Amino acid sequence: MSIVVTGATGALGRLVVEHLLATVPAERITAVVRDKEKAAEVAARGVEIRVADYDRPETLADAFRAGDRVLLISGSEVGRRVAQHTAVIDAAKAAGVAQLAYTGILGGPDADFLLAAEHKETERLILASGLPHTFLRNGWYTENYTANLAPVLAHGAVVGNAGDGRIASASRADFAAAAVAVLTGEGHLGAAYELSGDTAWSLDEYAAQVAVATGKEITYNRVPAAAHQEILVGAGVPEAFAAILVDVDEAIGRGLLAGTSGDLARLIGRPTTPLADTVASAVAAL
Ligand SMILES: NC(=O)c1ccc[n+]([C@@H]2O[C@H](COP(=O)([O-])OP(=O)(O)OC[C@H]3O[C@@H](n4cnc5c(N)ncnc54)[C@H](OP(=O)(O)O)[C@@H]3O)[C@@H](O)[C@H]2O)c1
Repeated sequence: MSIVVTGATGALGRLVVEHLLATVPAERITAVVRDKEKAAEVAARGVEIRVADYDRPETLADAFRAGDRVLLISGSEVGRRVAQHTAVIDAAKAAGVAQLAYTGILGGPDADFLLAAEHKETERLILASGLPHTFLRNGWYTENYTANLAPVLAHGAVVGNAGDGRIASASRADFAAAAVAVLTGEGHLGAAYELSGDTAWSLDEYAAQVAVATGKEITYNRVPAAAHQEILVGAGVPEAFAAILVDVDEAIGRGLLAGTSGDLARLIGRPTTPLADTVASAVAAL
């Protein structure tokens, strides 16, 4: 039996594999990847590599074994993910895995914004499969914001249509640590964790943090949804994805990403990474 991580060469997956390597022997870890070359470094450290593509169900036939504990990291292609995740769930069921943990979205069935639909359907499919499961309902990565510092610094402004909404984000590494906790610990089958940072912040507070870290004047520029859509498209974001980002901001405005259940800190056994720390690291890396 292995601990199997799909999406293992993505940003979250790499952190999960790294954390697993620090927690269990390498021979207990398997990375499911679509490009073996991208996994060469962890392969050299003893991690087993299985090649599979969510889009090609036949390649998933050999991805899992009976008794494996599997982390399904949700796919990155919005609109294709229900079919992709269905293929993974079917393969996990056929193999007889002992646990399927899934990285869904904060709020689970109550999240009513566009980006949540595929996650909700995936949870429904996992429940219908009867597989022993754990739902990791991830809130926002702080890095969603800090990866986008260049335009903020160029314009001296964070732009959004989130109003005064608050965001209980945590670092990707925090979410990775939570995944490792449920993959290596006991008592998590059937659980649904609402994973978010300990403290919810507003975009005003985010702008203030960036100002402190950079010494520049940065403000939060509240714009209506239509104007935000126009700005994003003008900056090169494809129209459909811009609409999703605008919809996320509306959801933030309605408080849907502000929940601070404490589940994440409890799972990882420490406070979540503060906004200020992630902002400072991102600014230092500029
Ligand atoms: N909570 C949040 O704030 C947040 C933000 C963004 C995304 N997400 C969700 O969380 C997931 C993980 O986040 P991340 O930052 O690690 O994203 P990421 O860096 O884009 O990683 C996505 C992973 O999924 C793999 N993947 C995509 N399509 C696949 C396919 N057809 N078959 C097999 N593997 C496939 C990618 O493989 P390659 O390495 O080969 O590309 C990559 O390893 C995302 O995919 C998305 O569903 C959450």
